[in-house]
Amino acid sequence: MAADVDKSQPGDGSCNPVQNEATRPGMTSVRWLWRGVWVLILTAAVPLLAFGIKYHQDAQLVKRHEESLHTLGAEGLFLFSSLDTDRDFYLSPEEFKPIVEKLTGVTPPLEAEEEAIHDPNGETLVLVAKMQPLQLESMTKSKDGFLGVSHSSLSGLRSWTSPAIPSSTFSASQFRVFLPPKNKVDVGDTWWVIASDLNIFTGYLPNNRYHPPTPRGKEVFIHSLLSMFHPRPFIKSRFAPQGAVACIRASNDFYFDIHFRIHAEFQLNEVPNFPFWFTPGQFAGNIVLSKDGSHVRHFHLYVPNNRSLNVDMEWLYGSSESSNMEVDIGYLPQMELLSSGPSTPSVIFDEEGNILDSKESSQEPIQFVFEDIVWSSEISHEDTVRRMEVTYYPFKKVDYLPFSEAFTRAEAENKLVHSILLWGSGRTLRETVLESSPVLALLNQSFISSWSLVKELEDLQAAEKNLVSEKARLHLENYNFPVEMMVALPNGTIVHHINANYFLDQTAMKPEEEGATFSFSGGFEDPSTSTYLSFLKEGLERAKPYLTE
Ligand SMILES: *[C@@H]1O[C@H](CO)[C@@H](O)[C@H](O)[C@H]1NC(C)=O
Ligand SMILES: *[C@@H]1O[C@H](CO)[C@@H](O)[C@H](O)[C@H]1NC(C)=O
Ligand SMILES: *[C@@H]1O[C@H](CO)[C@@H](O)[C@H](O)[C@H]1NC(C)=O
Repeated sequence: MAADVDKSQPGDGSCNPVQNEATRPGMTSVRWLWRGVWVLILTAAVPLLAFGIKYHQDAQLVKRHEESLHTLGAEGLFLFSSLDTDRDFYLSPEEFKPIVEKLTGVTPPLEAEEEAIHDPNGETLVLVAKMQPLQLESMTKSKDGFLGVSHSSLSGLRSWTSPAIPSSTFSASQFRVFLPPKNKVDVGDTWWVIASDLNIFTGYLPNNRYHPPTPRGKEVFIHSLLSMFHPRPFIKSRFAPQGAVACIRASNDFYFDIHFRIHAEFQLNEVPNFPFWFTPGQFAGNIVLSKDGSHVRHFHLYVPNNRSLNVDMEWLYGSSESSNMEVDIGYLPQMELLSSGPSTPSVIFDEEGNILDSKESSQEPIQFVFEDIVWSSEISHEDTVRRMEVTYYPFKKVDYLPFSEAFTRAEAENKLVHSILLWGSGRTLRETVLESSPVLALLNQSFISSWSLVKELEDLQAAEKNLVSEKARLHLENYNFPVEMMVALPNGTIVHHINANYFLDQTAMKPEEEGATFSFSGGFEDPSTSTYLSFLKEGLERAKPYLTE
């Protein structure tokens, strides 16, 4: 039995982080957020885990929060916070930008990216956007005629019936963002075009935002593509999976056929309505382009529509403490971008370098003839899909089972249960991202993994007394807000547990790195990996006397 079991009331729903601070002797815990922000985060039932703020800063923030609430009121503070992306209670010019754009109606041009510099003599192509609006009758809430859903919540959804920009001309060189990095040149190679910043300890991005952050690097081009559908694409979705992955399907001396998968979402509402998040299952597609990036033969991006439901929707319905998120799902028949033809030069030179023709001239347009592409090496589309899937979900190599199933299996296989217990309600945590390969290997070898919400275990505990309810009780007894990782014997005894606060403290972000809230980027690097490994190994060690064989 673990020695230092905390006896404070678990899962009592009070969720005041301060109450749980340093509850275990000899352990300093990273202070979490001040209450106001918890309200916003818990509003979405979203543990935002990696927000380590030092004590004195915390006190200051609490004070600023109170002052802001006093000055602005709850609704005003909500709007203010939606702009205050770094949550320091001050708006920088960058954070104020959406308001300027709103008031002046002028959108400043995005920072010119080196890669995307428009070459006046380069090739261009036209992308055509097509969409059929979400079928409102496919939403669960339509069954009772959207009873209790205020009209303003759905206004952004209802009014979005066609692409914002039906067609647009791009320079072929902009599509270079889809070219692989230098070390990925073979068919089947897969890489992140836009890396995900999320893992279980960095949690989720907040819901209370209206305007996407300024896209950077390769996000700029993806942002301009998705802007053809709606003016407010968020290239980094709030929840995992996040980012964009690509895979080389085919190649020859001159061309690549590159398939991609993008997880992005749109925020559809405008002030004063609360944010409405529209999250397609994914954006899939492919591009056939020359290896030097000067010519694009074909481009297609689309939301797969062969499922009966393919869009997640979430909307806030209030800014107050008691408010919550509504969640629904629906069917979007069509959302796609398609090249109207291969990219073509705007100016044509003869051998001596004289201009023969240009698109500007009013003569008969030049007819281009494109040779058929013969691939020297290729894999199937399904194969690229699978490879991209594994890139998004490396932790999927280890199954996370439901609570009682995990114990049944652990008993059968004489393994320990590795269990993650989170505060939360309503929505399920879609993805836990414990993805470092040594952790995966150890979990696979010696543990059955499971994660649960406090609410779920409370329900199990409240149900009739049996072995499962007893296991749930033991879990809850060892739980501290917001996330507890546990190692349990198959009979439910917790042999070791670690709180996310304590874990973060161990893998401490240096004070100067505190700004980098969401950038554990790319998953677990040391010291997180080594700390988690030693946690698991310590659990194995403590369980030794109990396990048979
Ligand atoms: C949808 O299409 C994709 C790609 O063609 C395929 O892999 C998938 O199995 C299909 N899903 C359904 C539900 O038909
Ligand atoms: C898990 O273990 C099985 C059998 O030992 C092995 O086949 C599989 O590749 C392992 N998976 C991971 C992610 O290590
Ligand atoms: C689980 O098994 C161990 C060793 O067999 C025992 O010490 C412990 O009390 C058991 N726990 C429960 C909850 O039955």
